[in-house]
Amino acid sequence: MRTSKSLPLLVSALLGSVAHSANISLPEALAESYAPIRVECPSDIQWVRPATGLDPAEAEWVHNRKRVVLDALEKYLHRLELEDFDVYEYAYRLCNSNLTHVPVLGMIVSGGGYRSGYTGTGGMRALDDRLPEAVEQRTGGLLQSLTYLGGQSGGSWPVASFSTHDFPTADKLVQEWVAANAKLGAVPENSTTGGSLTSIFGDVAAKYEAGFPVTVSDFLGRDFSYEFLPGPNGGLGLTWSSLRNQSKFLSHEMPMPMLQTTSLEANDVVYPQYLGLQVPNLNNPAYEITPFEMGSWDSSVSAFTPMEWTGTSLLNGMPVNTSSCVQGWDRISFMMGTAAAAFNFWYIEDATNGTVAPFPKRSIDTTMQGLEKRYEGQSLFPESEIQTLIEVYKSDFNLSMPEIAYSIWPNPFQVNTTNNTTSVSDSVGSLAELTFVDSTETGSSLPIAGMIQPARNVSFIIAWDDDADSIPYAWDNGTNLYNAYTIANASGLPFPIIPPVATIMNRNYSLKPTLFGCDANLTTTKSTASPIVLYMTTAPYSAYTNYTWITGNFSLTQFNEIFVNSFNQITQGNGTLDSEWTTCLGCAVIDRSLSALGMPRTRQCEKCMDKYCWDGTVDDVEPEIMDPPLMLYPNISFAEWNATSAIYSE
Ligand SMILES: *[C@@H]1O[C@H](CO)[C@@H](O)[C@H](O)[C@H]1NC(C)=O
Ligand SMILES: *[C@@H]1O[C@H](CO)[C@@H](O)[C@H](O)[C@H]1NC(C)=O
Ligand SMILES: *[C@@H]1O[C@H](CO)[C@@H](O)[C@H](O)[C@H]1NC(C)=O
Ligand SMILES: *[C@@H]1O[C@H](CO)[C@@H](O)[C@H](O)[C@H]1NC(C)=O
Ligand SMILES: *[C@@H]1O[C@H](CO)[C@@H](O)[C@H](O)[C@H]1NC(C)=O
Ligand SMILES: *[C@@H]1O[C@H](CO)[C@@H](O)[C@H](O)[C@H]1NC(C)=O
Ligand SMILES: *[C@@H]1O[C@H](CO)[C@@H](O)[C@H](O)[C@H]1NC(C)=O
Ligand SMILES: *[C@@H]1O[C@H](CO)[C@@H](O)[C@H](O)[C@H]1NC(C)=O
Ligand SMILES: *[C@@H]1O[C@H](CO)[C@@H](O)[C@H](O)[C@H]1NC(C)=O
Ligand SMILES: *[C@@H]1O[C@H](CO)[C@@H](O)[C@H](O)[C@H]1NC(C)=O
Ligand SMILES: *[C@@H]1O[C@H](CO)[C@@H](O)[C@H](O)[C@H]1NC(C)=O
Ligand SMILES: *[C@@H]1O[C@H](CO)[C@@H](O)[C@H](O)[C@H]1NC(C)=O
Repeated sequence: MRTSKSLPLLVSALLGSVAHSANISLPEALAESYAPIRVECPSDIQWVRPATGLDPAEAEWVHNRKRVVLDALEKYLHRLELEDFDVYEYAYRLCNSNLTHVPVLGMIVSGGGYRSGYTGTGGMRALDDRLPEAVEQRTGGLLQSLTYLGGQSGGSWPVASFSTHDFPTADKLVQEWVAANAKLGAVPENSTTGGSLTSIFGDVAAKYEAGFPVTVSDFLGRDFSYEFLPGPNGGLGLTWSSLRNQSKFLSHEMPMPMLQTTSLEANDVVYPQYLGLQVPNLNNPAYEITPFEMGSWDSSVSAFTPMEWTGTSLLNGMPVNTSSCVQGWDRISFMMGTAAAAFNFWYIEDATNGTVAPFPKRSIDTTMQGLEKRYEGQSLFPESEIQTLIEVYKSDFNLSMPEIAYSIWPNPFQVNTTNNTTSVSDSVGSLAELTFVDSTETGSSLPIAGMIQPARNVSFIIAWDDDADSIPYAWDNGTNLYNAYTIANASGLPFPIIPPVATIMNRNYSLKPTLFGCDANLTTTKSTASPIVLYMTTAPYSAYTNYTWITGNFSLTQFNEIFVNSFNQITQGNGTLDSEWTTCLGCAVIDRSLSALGMPRTRQCEKCMDKYCWDGTVDDVEPEIMDPPLMLYPNISFAEWNATSAIYSE
């Protein structure tokens, strides 16, 4: 690990005027104030690492994780009782490969506000071997076999929440969320536990007074934290780099959490009519936030910096001031605020009375000068909250709209252009600050960038998509997956080929589990370097979960309906809709590793692949409007169901 052993982690070593109490440890100081802290720079770390291969610390962690995964996967496979498949032989060969071929599995939870956060949590719950029903249905254990867990936007919240709570069961975690139930200004000013508007602005002010840029992402991140993070003051002191110290991370029992965000670039579209707000292009670089590093594999950046020192001003990969290195920038609050930095869209949506830039926040429709047009049934971000935020940032911090609308970081990849000793491109190297927005704004709500880097060798991805994009009933029509494919393809990254949305809709791929990339020829690289992707978009099985993205103050009863719906989706109604599915899921999970071990696909798995994998057929007939009935109870209409359900009415 690159952490300096000799670093004086005492606030007596602080510079400047940061108002922390004297002489307390770094964790204590971070728990006390949102202001990052400046310390002497350590001399023994690499500040910027070129993106060649994995961070050695991550590689070591993954190797040790594979030991634990092997055990979990073996138990999972025994429960599946696959025909003609010798689990002992498989496990023996994996072990014998020095764990090299233990499959690296990933799950990603899409953007989609509280919706994706909650239904995605339901999906994870259905894969957890601590849930007896999941073991009974033989989907349990896959959660324990994941090496990576990624999120963006609303999907970043469960990723952060599971990780900071040290991976409890979903049923335990959700009790914390319900107990908090305090969103966006809902916390009264006299609250003793914090979270009111004034207390959150106090946090932001501390960061501002310490001389750091502040934006609405700081505010929103702090706000999300009161629901999703443990500990006093909405997990104020928790940092993304400190996730490495969680006991289940140290024991390699949990997947590595990873968030995705996207930077704005100089040539992005600027909208003078919307106070000069900027919106990213489709090919802007995606950045990842891991417990080890932040940075981007994108060829324009191709560099990483240690997570725990983010916020530090670096030039040509060295601290600008060796007595002023920053700790506590990577507050988990702010990381969630960065992964969900969509305020530019929320503002434009409100400024146009909701005619432009609605959820799901895509900037790719050319008919509206680059911004998508709104359709009925989509909710606005509450206008009063927007106005309050803008006014406070303007009056108290003296900032203009473009200064507050994103997530702004000191650029660790800044280059001295007259003495350029780096490979960082001009587009990134010339910037003093990096400006991040929600990655969903570049066309896909699915945080795939980190998952498909060849260095990570992920062979199977569960892509949980819930971004309310089909019109007008707010289901998912496959756009996110299709755009993920086009983004991957444009960068030459390995990913399954995905057919256009019409095929996905006509073949109901967004209503039932579907596998892509099983056939290596149906991938961007025409090779097994591409993962197999299981596409799961939230669909109505036992509950109509197409509530609006802003709805989120749910009771346990409401959560339970969502969780049972996700459970029914993952298990196909406990096998009542399809008794082969869970077995076939297991076949897909191990498929890539089989070829690496020289073991053949069994006949049973061959049949599974035929049944669940997209075979390359395109169906471009104009699709019908997505208005699905409950998959398990097709005779119950939305109105009838709503009359008895808790989700819309409690
Ligand atoms: C600060 O802590 C150090 C070590 O714990 C101690 O030696 C020193 O006296 C303390 N200083 C103050 C001002 O309390
Ligand atoms: C096994 O893999 C680990 C991690 O890649 C490596 O450090 C170790 O040297 C390997 N052991 C053998 C026997 O190849
Ligand atoms: C906060 O104020 C509300 C309304 O005035 C009151 O009902 C509540 O008891 C107060 N709570 C605390 C913790 O003082
Ligand atoms: C250029 O920058 C490097 C560090 O990146 C430094 O070592 C070197 O002295 C600089 N050269 C000049 C001419 O300033
Ligand atoms: C939005 O609605 C308000 C009130 O109805 C109106 O004053 C304003 O002109 C509208 N703005 C736009 C951009 O349509
Ligand atoms: C950038 O490099 C030039 C040339 O080596 C040097 O004169 C200048 O001081 C450097 N700028 C900074 C900010 O370090
Ligand atoms: C730095 O130099 C590299 C290699 O010549 C070049 O590719 C890159 O664009 C330069 N970056 C800047 C910021 O000038
Ligand atoms: C699918 O969703 C996208 C994104 O919201 C939307 O632009 C498109 O119109 C939808 N397509 C169909 C056929 O519903
Ligand atoms: C992939 O396509 C090539 C050329 O069309 C063909 O020779 C090969 O058999 C195909 N591979 C698979 C696995 O279908
Ligand atoms: C499947 O099992 C779960 C957990 O026991 C239960 O909540 C759900 O109602 C069952 N679904 C069906 C279709 O029976
Ligand atoms: C939810 O979906 C169902 C089925 O498409 C539809 O009938 C209902 O109107 C939708 N509800 C909302 C609030 O969009
Ligand atoms: C669902 O039913 C409740 C009353 O039980 C009603 O208040 C609510 O508007 C309904 N929701 C929708 C989306 O129709």
